[in-house]
Amino acid sequence: MNRHRPIIPIHKPADYEGMRKAGQLAAAALDMLVEEAKPGITTAHLDKLAFEFAMDNNALPATLHYRGYKYSICTSINHVVCHGMPNNKPLKKGSILNIDVTLILDGWHGDTSRTIPIGDIPTKAARLMDITYNALFKGIEVVRPGATTGDIGHAIQAYGESERCSIVTDFCGHGLGRQFHTPPNILHYGKPGEGVTLEEGMFFTIEPMLNLGRPNVKVLADGWTAVTKDKSLSAQFEHSIAVTKDGYEIFTLSPGGWQHQFRK
Ligand code: MF3
Ligand code: CO
Ligand code: CO
Repeated sequence: MNRHRPIIPIHKPADYEGMRKAGQLAAAALDMLVEEAKPGITTAHLDKLAFEFAMDNNALPATLHYRGYKYSICTSINHVVCHGMPNNKPLKKGSILNIDVTLILDGWHGDTSRTIPIGDIPTKAARLMDITYNALFKGIEVVRPGATTGDIGHAIQAYGESERCSIVTDFCGHGLGRQFHTPPNILHYGKPGEGVTLEEGMFFTIEPMLNLGRPNVKVLADGWTAVTKDKSLSAQFEHSIAVTKDGYEIFTLSPGGWQHQFRK
C-alpha cells in the first residue's frame, strides 16, 4: 500500500449500468424536490420528501449519518456555499436554493445538485445561476480519455472568471461509485495538463461553486454550513459522470427535462 498514490477505481461496462440507475433516481428525486420548493415551504419538509422518495425506491440517502450529518439532502440558500442543513424556516421569495441529493441504489452512488429560484429573484442572482450552470458544462465538455483533471478545472475557472464571478477553491468534485467519495479530486480551478490523466472507466462528480463576490469561505460553528465570508451570493450545480471511450456520459441528467433551473 502506498498511501501517497491513491487508487482511482476503474469501472467495467456493467458498472455503468448501476450508475445509470442510481444517477437517474437521484435526478428524479431532484425533479420532485424542485417542484415542491416554493415560498413558505421549509427545507425540513423537502428533507422529509427526499427521505420518503428514497424509501419508496429501495434507495438510501448517502448523506444520512454520513460523518455525523443528520439529513437526507443539503439545502444551501443564498450566501450558503454548500452543506446547508435543512431546518424549519420557510423559504423566502427572492432566494436561491441549492438542493444536493445523493442516493445509493444497489450499492451505487448518484450525486447531483441544482440551484433553483424561490419565486421571482433579482437579475444578478439569475445571472450567477446561469454562469454556474454553464461553468459545470464547460468542465464536462473537456472530459475524454487523455484529458486531465487540470483541464476540467481550467475550463471552469477561465469561464467563471471571464464572467467576473469567483470560484470556490475549498471544496471539490470527487470520484464516486460503490463509495461516496474516492479519488480523484476534481478541482474547479487549475492549469491545462496538470493533475490526473482521465481514463475510460473513471466515475466522478463535477460540482463547481461560484460566488458573486470574493471566493473566501468559512464553515459555521455547526461544523457543516459553508458560507461566503463577504456574504455574497453563491450557486452550485453538480452532475455525476463517467469517462467513456471517446468522451463522457452524464448519469444524472433530469428524467423530467429540467436540464436548467429555468427551462423545462
Ligand atoms: N453531496 C455532497 C457532495 O456533493 C456531499 C454532502 S456530504 C454531507 O459531495 F454530509 F454534507 F451531506
Ligand atoms: Co458530490
Ligand atoms: Co452532491
